Amino acid sequence: LEQGGMKTSLFTFFVFIGINIIVCALYMHKYLHIAALFRESNKPVTSNDQSLVKSEVIYNVKHNHGYTIDHRHLATTSHVHHDDRFPTRLTQNGVDFTTEEVVLENRVNTHPYTFIINPIDLCSSTKTSFGLLILVTSKISNYIERLTIRSTWGSDATVFNNEGDVRLAFLLGYTTDKSAQNMVLRESGVYADIIQENFLDTYRNLTLKSVMLLKWVSEYCQNVQFVMKTDDDMYINIPNLLKMLSMVFSQSNIMIGYLFTKAKPNRKRRNKWYVSRSEFPGGVYPNYLSGTAYVMSRQVAPKLYQISLNTNFLTMEDIFVSGVLASKAK
Ligand SMILES: *[C@@H]1O[C@H](CO)[C@@H](O)[C@H](O)[C@H]1NC(C)=O
Repeated sequence: LEQGGMKTSLFTFFVFIGINIIVCALYMHKYLHIAALFRESNKPVTSNDQSLVKSEVIYNVKHNHGYTIDHRHLATTSHVHHDDRFPTRLTQNGVDFTTEEVVLENRVNTHPYTFIINPIDLCSSTKTSFGLLILVTSKISNYIERLTIRSTWGSDATVFNNEGDVRLAFLLGYTTDKSAQNMVLRESGVYADIIQENFLDTYRNLTLKSVMLLKWVSEYCQNVQFVMKTDDDMYINIPNLLKMLSMVFSQSNIMIGYLFTKAKPNRKRRNKWYVSRSEFPGGVYPNYLSGTAYVMSRQVAPKLYQISLNTNFLTMEDIFVSGVLASKAK
């Protein structure tokens, strides 16, 4: 090699190493405060816990929404006791739920699950009715997504302490990972906006989450006009949504969303949306609304919930809820 050529390739080499170091540093910075939370997740949990509050992405912090979590137990085992208004509990290893092992396909959806975390004040703290409850399906590990929603489009709810005309909560299943579950409890202690039931939080169990939504609204939220189901990877334009809902304000039997008509079941085994003939024998799905986001008037929820308890389970939640159940309910 010529002298000059050698110098150039050495220079290129060091620039390459430098860029790699910067990229690594950025990644570590991003995950550092998550790691810090994991480290702290064995510490006692109180409803006034400040440790989640350190991160500057959190804008709206609320306290004292009625949770008491007994830290004597939490610190050493996974026993968690809520106060009397929270009848359910998570026991050692999280598996003393006495729910039978459920093979969901081809089975009637009996929904034998109970709430582990239940923020009953979300609707009933103010007896007055309010406009819109947004329930966001989220998975346990998507802590950052939930933070982001609370501080971006969800701030329409959070600026009013989740007590105004728009309110927001997240729907979770449970996990056997104790430290992840402790983090969920801490998060719920700070924000009081998590609803959790004792079925495993997996993709194939998403329909259970939507049934849990119907159940929770039926049992704990009588004073809302509309309920929206959406996912934690969605951005909702709340002002536009409220404008649209004001046009259908008086309707008590309505579901709104992006309508799919005459969709056919996917019969390719490896496909994400594969549905076997035994799960859904028909050739065409009933018309349904995209699961990315749909709205229903509150009165619809108990009707769909009751019908769901008598209906064969489908793994695609939007087709199950807004297609099969809604058409059965006419
Ligand atoms: C769904 O949850 C139930 C109850 O926890 C569990 O037994 C089942 O394995 C889960 N199903 C899937 C497909 O993850």
